[in-house]
Amino acid sequence: MSQVVLTEIHGKVGLIRINRPEAMNALNNDVVDGIAAAVDAFEADENIGCIVITGNEKAFAAGADIGFMKDFDYMHAYKTDFITRNWERIKTTRKPVIAAVAGFALGGGCEMAMMCDMIFAADTAKFGQPEIRLGTMPGAGGTQRLPRAIGKAKAMDMCLTARMMDAAEAEKSGLVARVIAAEQLMEETMKAAQTIAGYSLPVIMMIKESVNRAYESSLNEGLLFERRVFHSAFALEDQKEGMAAFVEKRKPAFKNR
Ligand code: CAA
Repeated sequence: MSQVVLTEIHGKVGLIRINRPEAMNALNNDVVDGIAAAVDAFEADENIGCIVITGNEKAFAAGADIGFMKDFDYMHAYKTDFITRNWERIKTTRKPVIAAVAGFALGGGCEMAMMCDMIFAADTAKFGQPEIRLGTMPGAGGTQRLPRAIGKAKAMDMCLTARMMDAAEAEKSGLVARVIAAEQLMEETMKAAQTIAGYSLPVIMMIKESVNRAYESSLNEGLLFERRVFHSAFALEDQKEGMAAFVEKRKPAFKNR
């Protein structure tokens, strides 16, 4: 059996590739467990400063595996806490995660992409929450993260009609950070990931934590959190190095301390 999740390390970037092309990268337990294990490994590796998750040119992921879950009953779904069991590992890593999406990101695939810190979309990308067509509803954040990303009107439209959103609309609506020609998707995403990973790891983590705080607190609480974390950055050797390098007109050599 082929591995459903592949990993590679490129410099300071950990790459995770979902690899079930025969099923449009539908997400079953093996895929989700494989992604969680890869995130664990990259989190533990001090050399890694950024993680990229991708699929193939046809699909990032076409959702949770329908064949796998079609006969579930309530008790099984409840007891196993289907579907976020292990999915949220992407969200809990303290290192930034970029989803590089080409082709379909539907249902759980769209939800998984939204769990990442940002989405880079190929011009072929299509996003959607089509669960309503299956007589069910989004269960991994679609009704919660989508309105926060694109607003209530478009989130309602997508979840209730099951229509897909193309890359251009997704960028205009704030769902994706960049749209990139499909042939360039991985190159440009990896370049951005290497740029991030080249900075000081504790600062990368402080910024990720602070931006995420904007979604979980009032503005005043968030501003206070940011200011305190900013103050703590003065304790870093990398802050001394970064500012000294600027003044001395040279490149900084960060040590992740
Ligand atoms: N689960 C299981 N298998 C899937 C799948 C899924 N979500 N999506 C696609 N596949 C399989 C198809 O069954 C097909 O397998 P076979 O060749 O063995 O028949 C193979 O992938 C290729 O798919 P299609 O032949 O359908 O390819 P297409 O190009 O005609 O269509 C598609 C592509 C539009 C993505 C279509 O496959 C589709 O609509 N897939 C389902 C999308 C969906 O409803 N996703 C939501 C799932 S529910 C969910 O995710 C719940 C949640 O909130 C977490």
